[in-house]
Amino acid sequence: MPDAFARTLVTSALPYANGPIHLGHLAGAYLPADFYVRYLRLKGEEVVYVCGSDEGGVAILMRAQQEGRTPQEVIDTFHPIIHDGLRNAGISFDHYSRTSLPIHHQTAQDFFRELWKNGHLTTRTEEQLYDPKAQLFLADRFVKGTCPNCGYEEAYGDQCERCGTSLSPSELIDPRSTLSDAIPELRQTTHWYLPLGELQPQLEAFIASREGWKPNVLGQVNSWLTAGLRDRAITRDIPWGIPVPEDVAEEAGVDASGKVLYVWFDAPIGYVSATREWAEQTGDPDAWEPYWKGDDTRLVHFIGKDNIVFHCLIFPGMLLLRDGWKTPDQVPANEFLNLEGRKFSTSRGWALWLHDALERIDADQLRYGLGTMLPETKDADFNLADFQSRVNGELADVLGNFAHRALTFTARRFDGKVPPLGTPTADAQAALDAIAKAPALIGGHYASFRNRDALFATIDLARTGNKFFNDAAPWHQIKEDEAAAGSTIHVALQLCASLSILLEPVVPTAAAKLRAMLNLTGLRDSTPNGDADSTATLGWDDSGRPLLETGDAVNEPTVLFTKIEDDFVESERARLESAVPADEAEPEAAYAPLADEIAFDDFAKLDLRVGKVLVAEPVPKADRLLRLEVDLGFEKRQILSGLAEHFAPEDVVGRSVVVVANLAPRKMRGLESQGMILMAEDREGKLTFAAADGEPGSIVR
Ligand code: 2FM
Ligand code: ZN
Repeated sequence: MPDAFARTLVTSALPYANGPIHLGHLAGAYLPADFYVRYLRLKGEEVVYVCGSDEGGVAILMRAQQEGRTPQEVIDTFHPIIHDGLRNAGISFDHYSRTSLPIHHQTAQDFFRELWKNGHLTTRTEEQLYDPKAQLFLADRFVKGTCPNCGYEEAYGDQCERCGTSLSPSELIDPRSTLSDAIPELRQTTHWYLPLGELQPQLEAFIASREGWKPNVLGQVNSWLTAGLRDRAITRDIPWGIPVPEDVAEEAGVDASGKVLYVWFDAPIGYVSATREWAEQTGDPDAWEPYWKGDDTRLVHFIGKDNIVFHCLIFPGMLLLRDGWKTPDQVPANEFLNLEGRKFSTSRGWALWLHDALERIDADQLRYGLGTMLPETKDADFNLADFQSRVNGELADVLGNFAHRALTFTARRFDGKVPPLGTPTADAQAALDAIAKAPALIGGHYASFRNRDALFATIDLARTGNKFFNDAAPWHQIKEDEAAAGSTIHVALQLCASLSILLEPVVPTAAAKLRAMLNLTGLRDSTPNGDADSTATLGWDDSGRPLLETGDAVNEPTVLFTKIEDDFVESERARLESAVPADEAEPEAAYAPLADEIAFDDFAKLDLRVGKVLVAEPVPKADRLLRLEVDLGFEKRQILSGLAEHFAPEDVVGRSVVVVANLAPRKMRGLESQGMILMAEDREGKLTFAAADGEPGSIVR
């Protein structure tokens, strides 16, 4: 990889236009990409950000068949809903395309043709499942059956949704057609294959040469590589999609009628088509080429974890086979987001749809709240109460309040003009130092795809401002020493000015509002709107220096962030519950997300012992607690444990339990608790004792 990149091409996974997208999608592939591109644009880097609707594939065909509509009608319904939702969430694409456009058909067919002409593709004739009633070969999701891996009876022909195994239709046990319920028969058909098996060494070298990839991404990639890559069919027999080019079919001696490119072959080429379309619209149709062929281009794909194999191995494999094309430099895939402790589920109606959520939630608030909960290293949960408390506690109480107080004070006591700094106090200097460090600190997080850290560091700077303001108490200072109060306000206003740039990637509307209050102009545009201030002189790094001059006029503040009302959580929950069909009222609960990784030494600090419960009794006025006396062999302990709602005291006496024996004692209800009992809590919140055989005092490790 080059030391410095001349330009960056950023892509977000093309959403399937078979339904609207939800907040889980937004958190996985769009919001993180938008934070990144806005940051790069503010840095003054050349960046193009493309995406588009994925309009091929069996899922669209199936929805059309279920609803008695044409696939074209389905995509024409959802493409605008998805695009408007993303636009209203502030996702700042340079270009958003759709894969049903002629430019994409042509780009994908050309790509396929080039691979064929250069001898990279093979054809194979094999027996595949055919539905004699519907007269169709049953690709992927058109066939269901029992998973050979886990026995799940509703597994699809491409993947078992219970165990995640990737399958081919012929591997299913007792297959049946999802179109007609007919028992399929085997018939011969011919398809084109991508030689992924042969490409394994090159793909291994490609992965080994990538820098800074996330462990969750490398983990999946390495397990595919360890299992060994297999050649992949890149065509399908379905009546919707991009036709196999006739000239290729003719040369191969294959009847291509009804054959289309596999959606996962054409979809990533959609990034290329979207870049081409972007170039055409800029008036320089060749401008797309350096983005796909330049060694000095940084190519970054933002995706969810279910797309890892396609972006890290299969698409790079396709690109490696093209002379002079570049491969991705980064694929910062995210894990999944749950909603209120359960998986997002379209079929179960458990989802907050983006276009709909934006009718009730302000886009900046959504961006910030979701940004603090991104599933960057592990699955995360979008919890409505946490969302409300983040927005109210951080955006409104910390940031909004700080800016409001600083500007109000300036308006009332300094005639709306920035007062002089004078000689800063130690605290003022510390605040100025924090400003100086902020762009590199926060920018470093964005550049390394640690968006949550970037958001936390940004809000921390506002917290620093709030604390500085409170500690200096200019409302007291002004009574004794107007210059000292002025100095405090000067620093507070400089902090606001820096924040108005640093906040731009996350809450662009509020950041612009804050700049307007401060009369701060000339910031580069963080969007590609082309309406950038042509006199723009300020960029990301300028947020590290004082941006306001003494005597500059600032305005009276207006409200930056309104608070989310108290009934928000309840009303959103009720809305969610009411969308769940009656027969799905109790969907399977999601597993709690994994905690952050710890080092072995952290674990070794725990002293876990087997103990035997000698006494268990209720604690007066504490409904949840039981007071236990536990024999650890070498001594007896009093332990208070939150078991009373789950177990009667008599069910606990005599049990062997695992005790955290070196936990610092703490007082509860006036009694000292000298340790903790380990319990297993299942997804429904039911408790069982962690198994503990062995004599009291035995070490558990
Ligand atoms: O998983 C999906 O939603 C796919 N439509 C993503 C495609 S990403 C890319 F390759 F186009
Ligand atoms: Zn399975």
